[in-house]
Amino acid sequence: MRIAVVPGDGIGPEVTREALKVLGALATAEISLFPWGADHFLKTGETIPAGAFEMLARDFDAVLSGAFGDPRVPDGRHADEILLGMRRRLDLFANVRPVRALDDSVVPLRRARAADVDFVLFRENTEGAYSGRGRVTGAGTSGEEAVEEDVTTRRGVERICRAAFEFAVAFGRTRRPGRRPRVLMADKHNVQKGGGGLWHRVFREVAAAFPSCENRHMFADALAHEMVRSPASLDVVVTNNLFGDVLSDLGAALQGGLGLAPSGNVHPGRTSVFEPVHGSAPDLAGRGIANPFGSIRSLGMLLAHVGRGDLEERIERAVAACLAAGETTRDLGGKLSTGEAGDAVVARLAGGKARGSGRAPRAPVRARRAGASPRRRRAG
Ligand code: NAD
Ligand code: IPM
Ligand code: MN
Repeated sequence: MRIAVVPGDGIGPEVTREALKVLGALATAEISLFPWGADHFLKTGETIPAGAFEMLARDFDAVLSGAFGDPRVPDGRHADEILLGMRRRLDLFANVRPVRALDDSVVPLRRARAADVDFVLFRENTEGAYSGRGRVTGAGTSGEEAVEEDVTTRRGVERICRAAFEFAVAFGRTRRPGRRPRVLMADKHNVQKGGGGLWHRVFREVAAAFPSCENRHMFADALAHEMVRSPASLDVVVTNNLFGDVLSDLGAALQGGLGLAPSGNVHPGRTSVFEPVHGSAPDLAGRGIANPFGSIRSLGMLLAHVGRGDLEERIERAVAACLAAGETTRDLGGKLSTGEAGDAVVARLAGGKARGSGRAPRAPVRARRAGASPRRRRAG
């Protein structure tokens, strides 16, 4: 298993370190660390080197990523070029964001339990409002106008809808036995007649090819309401890039907060990028208190992507056991540091307890220099 790791900015390196600790406890992998992020950009003027995307696709099975965004780079240029760059240049068209609460204690809704919060968001990840195209005219004048180009293509909608249905079939088999899995598409075709209209038509066409699934449409605003009022009604949700971004933070809240939410930027069969839903959290960076569970669960998704779904399930169970025992960082009411929370997961994987049962095993990691970038090492 060859894994590229891009820890990035802020809490990115802090949470990624814990995910690597968990990886070290589970499997043998060759890890290459890449320094791309705000520090590297400010020092060298380079966001991501020429040829990097081709190198990732060629030399690695998957990428584990931290987060990008730093107040010292106000226009976020490096985040655009690294993060959105990977999504676009590796053609990772499906941003898969599970909304799965692992313990009743983390569900913020008064009348819902963990079992009620278990669905998956499929966010289109390469187009829409993220086209990067647009213009500002008359800057600084009273007539200033900004136009953003929201680009929707038939090919783009078709492939994300198809991926959502294909996933729903498999999800239904294991997680919804005894009933047809549901795929819900959310748009705003009442306002966005062009792009929304295209989503609406193509979703219906794709749905017709999957008679074993129920299909349903809601406007994106109504879906936000439904996610809070009736999350148990949802199995798979498919939507565009910008609605998916906003709804995935709402989804994170439903499963206990941004500290817990995992994601994958996926192109089935290709090198894909896994990262927590949260950002670089400058308010927490350097304090050793960020929750690493989102990154650790993203590692689980990565392992499933490379054929080790068994390890993903073990990670999910270990994190669930930590939550049930209150072995958490302070965002969830616990007392653990980021490092202790990572140790707690490792201890649960080994079937033990984090505290009062001796020290959690450390990942046996041997590092060796491989030039300026990347740093390569083996875990496991
Ligand atoms: P954020 O996700 O970084 O933080 C939002 C809130 O959630 C903050 O209060 C933060 O403290 C909390 N939080 C986030 N992660 C947490 C964790 N692991 N444990 C505990 N609490 C956590 O979003 P933001 O503040 O809007 O953005 C900060 C920067 O991150 C910006 O530059 C933004 O563009 C960037 N960002 C990057 C990514 C990414 O790289 N995938 C995602 C989102 C935001
Ligand atoms: C996310 C983030 C990114 C997005 C930002 C950092 C560009 O919010 O991964 O959810 O908008 O997709
Ligand atoms: Mn987001």
